[in-house]
Amino acid sequence: MPVAGALQNILGIETSCDETAVAVYSRQRGLLAHQIYSQVALHAEYGGVVPELASRDHVRKLAPLIAAALAEAGLSRADGIAYTRGPGLLGALLVGGAVARGLGMAWQVPVLGVHHMEGHLLSPLLEPDAPAFPFVALLVSGGHTLLVAVEGVGRYRQLGTTLDDAVGEAFDKTAKLLGLGYPGGPALARLAEDGAPGRFVFPRPMLDRPGLDFSFSGLKTAVALAVRDAGPADHADIARGFEEAVTETLAVKCRRALQETGYARLVVAGGVGANRRLREQLDAAATAHDFRVYFPRHAFCTDNGAMIAHVGALRLPGDARAACAPDPMAVARWPLHELAPPGA
Ligand code: KG4
Ligand code: ZN
Repeated sequence: MPVAGALQNILGIETSCDETAVAVYSRQRGLLAHQIYSQVALHAEYGGVVPELASRDHVRKLAPLIAAALAEAGLSRADGIAYTRGPGLLGALLVGGAVARGLGMAWQVPVLGVHHMEGHLLSPLLEPDAPAFPFVALLVSGGHTLLVAVEGVGRYRQLGTTLDDAVGEAFDKTAKLLGLGYPGGPALARLAEDGAPGRFVFPRPMLDRPGLDFSFSGLKTAVALAVRDAGPADHADIARGFEEAVTETLAVKCRRALQETGYARLVVAGGVGANRRLREQLDAAATAHDFRVYFPRHAFCTDNGAMIAHVGALRLPGDARAACAPDPMAVARWPLHELAPPGA
């Protein structure tokens, strides 16, 4: 929606984990540029993200990526800056925050610290066929598993969360058990493509209980036992069984959340939202139960700068009074319910 005279072009900076990502979002013209540098190769030999290495690499890559994004957008500066303030790895977040504040001072523009999960939550609004409010959002990433009722920007009610591992974490740990590299989720999904469905049937965690919370540790144990007793030839079938247990569980809980809220739209966001079988399960449920499901494109499911610039465009200049001083500059933890609508 065009907003005349307001800050037009927002620079978005994402450095919460192992992607350095920058984007420029125009209120009038939408996304003008997005650039991403993945540190996957850097962390691969350690089997997971090494926080200190992540911070140092953000330092190396962030300034050139900002220059590239501005060039792609045909701009020499932006009118406002949004950076990921949390949750995430503190050292990595501080790199983005410090650069954002420095640029804000140099350009004399407002700087806003954005909640990473709000970025994911609202990322389907970046797409041409954007969902209207209200909707239920399923947020499934390496660090989070959340079902949220979204009534508007900053109006979020948590419906359910995981009691132990996040879904992405469960994918990554199971991938490790199967001897797959980091990051495990996509590798496990690829292996599962070759697996026979139904040969390994793992527990569907907490489906027998009411409520919208998740738990994946029991499933992880069941898979570990299966791997112990199986040979490498069975790994694809195990991967398939694991993926089916997880995606079916998520699909059932999503449907419950829609029934509880009475909403007719479901939005899926976060890295695991890229999983093909999850998409198939939810598409099938949507057809059977008459709701609509929205998936952001793959590049906007995983961490990206577009979702941060987009939240900046929605919240600036309404939040400009709070901008430039969202102290502390970075926070490792930040409950979603602390957010309020813009300007509130
Ligand atoms: O949102 P994201 O990029 O980063 C944060 O955690 O914030 O999500 C990364 C997670 C990782 O656990 C990764 O293994 C998982 O998303 N993932 C997948 C797939 N692509 C990424 N899990 C299952 N299937 C996929 N295709
Ligand atoms: Zn994320």
